Amino acid sequence: MITKKIELAIQSLNNENLVAIPTETVYGLAGNAFNEKAVKKIFTLKKRPFHNPLIIHIKSYEYLDKVAKDIPKIAKELAKSFWPGPLTLVLKKKDIIPDIVTSGKDTVAIRVPNHALTLELLDNLDYPLAAPSANPFSTISPTTTEHVDGYFGNDLEVILDGGACEKGIESTIIGFEDEYPIIYRLGSLSLEEIENKIGKVYTKNKNDVSPVAPGMLTRHYAPRTEMILVDEPKNKLKYFSNKKVGVLSFKKKLNSLLPEDQEVLSESGDLNEAAKNLYAAMHRLDSGRFDIILAERFPNIGIGKTINDKLERATKKEEKLANEIELIKDLEKDIIINTVFPGLIP
Ligand code: TXA
Ligand code: MG
Repeated sequence: MITKKIELAIQSLNNENLVAIPTETVYGLAGNAFNEKAVKKIFTLKKRPFHNPLIIHIKSYEYLDKVAKDIPKIAKELAKSFWPGPLTLVLKKKDIIPDIVTSGKDTVAIRVPNHALTLELLDNLDYPLAAPSANPFSTISPTTTEHVDGYFGNDLEVILDGGACEKGIESTIIGFEDEYPIIYRLGSLSLEEIENKIGKVYTKNKNDVSPVAPGMLTRHYAPRTEMILVDEPKNKLKYFSNKKVGVLSFKKKLNSLLPEDQEVLSESGDLNEAAKNLYAAMHRLDSGRFDIILAERFPNIGIGKTINDKLERATKKEEKLANEIELIKDLEKDIIINTVFPGLIP
């Protein structure tokens, strides 16, 4: 049921069941983080591998000591600056967190979400909430109750309605190696905002050999429709004249395509607005109407960097596109093609 009543959510969670919760980033699939049975249900419903650990959501900075230990000074500084907000910190865990939450790791990912309804919910619980994004493993994350309902409507008693997510992209994840901060996943909190606070930060976001956070897996936020990332969709349309093409762009619709075949993320050119609209637009374009989606590359600044990162991960479809090598050869041999079809063009 889609509802605004937190009493229903409390009841469900206290019964070891799962509830979809709104956050400022994306909707979460939440269960009692101290309860193995509830946490197991999260993995099962999401079809998520058990080696992929969850984020726990706590109600305030003050609660941090209950779940984490040996907290680096910089972690405290970051938490004080950005919580509640789209920052997840990976810290040494205390024994109170069951191993199933952290996939056996001695660290736990923690954040305080910035959403009034969920903060009120957490205030009424005597445990934190383990919550991954409320979508089946490796599909597009949900930013509205409708998205969650489409994925899990039949399986959940309660989808807590907090409206459309304000940020629209997952939290930024920071871990610590020898007390040095390292970005494991680019997210709603931009690199610039973090570096303005604590100086230069190393990013391991693209290490897909041995991913620390599975958000780092190269192909992750995938629509079912093939998607290609290009500098200017307009110039690439000619290569797909025999296909039904949908376009995802930053500011402007193309005159050469039907308006209903296009999604513009921000007419005013606001990157934050674009981030907020990104997943909903991908959901709409992925309705099955198109053979291919051409996505425009964003300016690589601020949250634009995160948008590009998500788009790159959504466009890793090497196998399916191998039969289109001829087309690809025709496309400009630029960095974008190399990113989208790694290894195909030397
Ligand atoms: O914005 C968000 O972070 C949303 C909302 C619901 O809070 N949650 C979210 O959760 O995106 P999920 O499960 O989709 O992504 C969690 C990421 C995964 O990539 C996971 O591998 C990483 O966090 N993670 C969790 N625990 C970790 C740990 N101990 N060390 C490294 N990475 C960890
Ligand atoms: Mg996710």
